[in-house]
Amino acid sequence: MSGSDDEKLRLLKGLNERWWDEDGNLVTLHSSCKLIAPYIRDEIIHAGIARADAASGLTPLDDVTALEVGCGGGILTERLAKMGCTVTGIDVIGELIAVAKRRASSDPLLKTKVSYKKESIEHHAANNAEKYDVVVSHFCLEQAEDQQTFIESCGKCLKPGGAIFITTVSKTILSWLGIVLLYEKLFKCIPVGMHDWNRCLTADKCHQILQRHNLKTIATRGFYYNYFSKRSFWIRCASLFYITYAKKKAIEENVKEITKDCLKK
Ligand SMILES: C[S@@+](CC[C@H](N)C(=O)[O-])C[C@H]1O[C@@H](n2cnc3c(N)ncnc32)[C@H](O)[C@@H]1O
Repeated sequence: MSGSDDEKLRLLKGLNERWWDEDGNLVTLHSSCKLIAPYIRDEIIHAGIARADAASGLTPLDDVTALEVGCGGGILTERLAKMGCTVTGIDVIGELIAVAKRRASSDPLLKTKVSYKKESIEHHAANNAEKYDVVVSHFCLEQAEDQQTFIESCGKCLKPGGAIFITTVSKTILSWLGIVLLYEKLFKCIPVGMHDWNRCLTADKCHQILQRHNLKTIATRGFYYNYFSKRSFWIRCASLFYITYAKKKAIEENVKEITKDCLKK
């Protein structure tokens, strides 16, 4: 986020005490985490990133190193750790990192599996190139000042062959009506101003940027939130919320593609 985003910073800082209230202002965040965490786990296993002998156990992602970008108070970071990942959570807001750290310090499992840092992804990428098997960004892309640099920085932190998962709001008329108007302004189940619709990307645009940074899209799934059941659920289109899963091309894959292009010419 840029320095000009003072209002957004104030909004997020103000939520620190209520970050873990599952029925509070962040109900959609909690419910979407419950939906996407098993999806992320299954794709990591399917991609062969997790150890084969761990895949059927209680902590199937043992030994997988993950980075959560924009971890806030740690909702998704904790879920990843409980599935076995060794997770680094970073966020630009110190008050939220403090909430996440407080929780981790009182849980023996989290204490060993999780580390948190107040840092932007743009800064983190400069010193942590090709460090992680998995990078996850859950409702953070739409807050970034520059989406290109944000995605590029996430990609930099990923090992070749690693997986990136980005959850965000699509930039469509439907998302403005169904998320900004209905859920932020009318039902108020999302804090007003939480999603800056002008900074959102459609799934296609997101794929283009990923591609530009050597990240090949494998799948995109749409989802939405049911206000009455307080649950998130998968939908067929990616016009509201969506999660995109991409893989960083390994060097051999790039060489293969270049050779194929040369042979065509
Ligand atoms: C909606 S919260 C997401 C919470 C979290 N992912 C979860 O699942 O609980 C978005 C977070 O992204 C953080 N953020 C925004 N831009 C960032 C950046 N460039 N680098 C790191 N964190 C950033 C914000 O401070 C905010 O806490």
